[in-house]
Amino acid sequence: MDNKDDQLEYIKQLESQIEELKKQIGSLDEKPTSPIPSVSVALTSAKEELQLKDEKASDLKEENAEKAKELKDENDIVNADLKLEVALATAVAKVADSASAAKNMFLANVGHELRTPLHDIMGSVDILLNKKEIDPKDQKNYLDIIDQKSKDLLILVNDLLDISRIEAGKLTLNYETVKFRTLVNEVSKSFEDEIKKKKIRYRVDIEKTIPRCLTIDPFRLKQILTNLIGNAIKFTDKGSVVVCATKVFNKEFESNNKIELEISVSDTGMGIPKHQQPQLFKPFSQVQDLTHRQYGGTGLGLAISKRLAEMMEGKIWLEDNTPKGARFCFTMVAHKAEEKKTYPALIEDRFFENRAKEILNQRTINIMVVEDDKASLDILKVIINEKSKNLIVAPAIDGHQAMEIYNAGNIDIILTDIQMPFMDGFAMIQQIRAIEQKTGKRTPILTMTASATPADKERCLSAGADFYITKPVIREDLYKTLDKMIEKFF
Ligand SMILES: Nc1ncnc2c1ncn2[C@@H]1O[C@H](COP(=O)(O)OP(=O)(O)O)[C@@H](O)[C@H]1O
Ligand SMILES: [Mg+2]
Repeated sequence: MDNKDDQLEYIKQLESQIEELKKQIGSLDEKPTSPIPSVSVALTSAKEELQLKDEKASDLKEENAEKAKELKDENDIVNADLKLEVALATAVAKVADSASAAKNMFLANVGHELRTPLHDIMGSVDILLNKKEIDPKDQKNYLDIIDQKSKDLLILVNDLLDISRIEAGKLTLNYETVKFRTLVNEVSKSFEDEIKKKKIRYRVDIEKTIPRCLTIDPFRLKQILTNLIGNAIKFTDKGSVVVCATKVFNKEFESNNKIELEISVSDTGMGIPKHQQPQLFKPFSQVQDLTHRQYGGTGLGLAISKRLAEMMEGKIWLEDNTPKGARFCFTMVAHKAEEKKTYPALIEDRFFENRAKEILNQRTINIMVVEDDKASLDILKVIINEKSKNLIVAPAIDGHQAMEIYNAGNIDIILTDIQMPFMDGFAMIQQIRAIEQKTGKRTPILTMTASATPADKERCLSAGADFYITKPVIREDLYKTLDKMIEKFF
């Protein structure tokens, strides 16, 4: 009885049978007889069956409704996903757009920053070369311009390298034990001329509780200080710049032989408008575009300083309650160092200078300079001869020529470039060290390279070099390194 109509027909028949039976029962004094219940049961069961089917049908309907709802929900989810994807794609495109806009802007600025000093350098050289009569005072002035602008270029190149190393997560700290006060004084000294020129007051205040010797990354700490002090002086025309270093009390650090420092650089300069402050520490973005143009710089200093402070377990911020000028602060964690030990970095440079001078007064030292760039070779030759007449330079333009000179004997020190045609510096050093394995001699080697990453330094040292300096070679650095080599090996 699958058909509903059949079922109804059957029930109807049963009902008429019941009616008939009722009549018969009525005539039998309304006492039920046996056939009636069985018919009733049949009728009831049929009704129940029908009800069940109805229920099933409505269940099915509900189920379908639910399924439909589920499907609708699924559809909604798919739609929402799609919407999300579209939104994400739009956001990504926007971010990419703004990132590429920021990068384009950055490149435009870098281009500008490169061209400006280059313009001044080339212009000065042009005048020095071509002007028929030139006053010695003017001559000195143009040479000073060339000097200053090339230093600016060097800072820019170093900042660019740092920011790209930071972005790639490749910048690491190199710890050394140094005298903290000496380090701050060295940074201050590098601004001496500028401070004098601007006629501003400059003061350094270091809290007495800060230990004399600290284990830190001196190069990177100097970099943060140079950035902050440099900015303070740059943006202050009147008044003063004050550097303060205090010890932050930290119970946990005390027991761990660590120390937290807070260093602030305050100035009475132009200050930074509040609405531009959130941009300050972001790379590729520059605050005060107009002033930036006037004062130079790339807007990378604070971004680099922020990352460095974070690497030193600290942070950097701009105080927002300064009535005049700006006050930048940063914290960093240093390790206390024992005073008794003698650390190489603590030995005064003057010590080397004096010992090396004595040695050079008593004997000649043959120094082979290996460099494929003719101009660099000529400059190095003059600079080395200026240091002492007893430093005799033997020039070589590549590794092969250097090997010939080396094999002829009499070379006491080698100063070599790394990237050279035919035989590079690494191959040359390895050959020399292999020969020396047999002879037992060891010629001190100083590498100088324009590749300035810590990995490059490591490569030079593991190839067998004893010392390493980066190009452009600064005269003082070269002299100091030569002194150290002479002191160590002679
Ligand atoms: N002490 C300060 N006083 C006023 N403005 C400052 C100071 N320090 C930084 N700024 C602003 O922040 C900008 C970013 O500084 P920085 O990252 O060091 O880059 P740069 O010095 O190369 O411009 C500066 O160009 C300047 O507008
Ligand atoms: Mg700066």
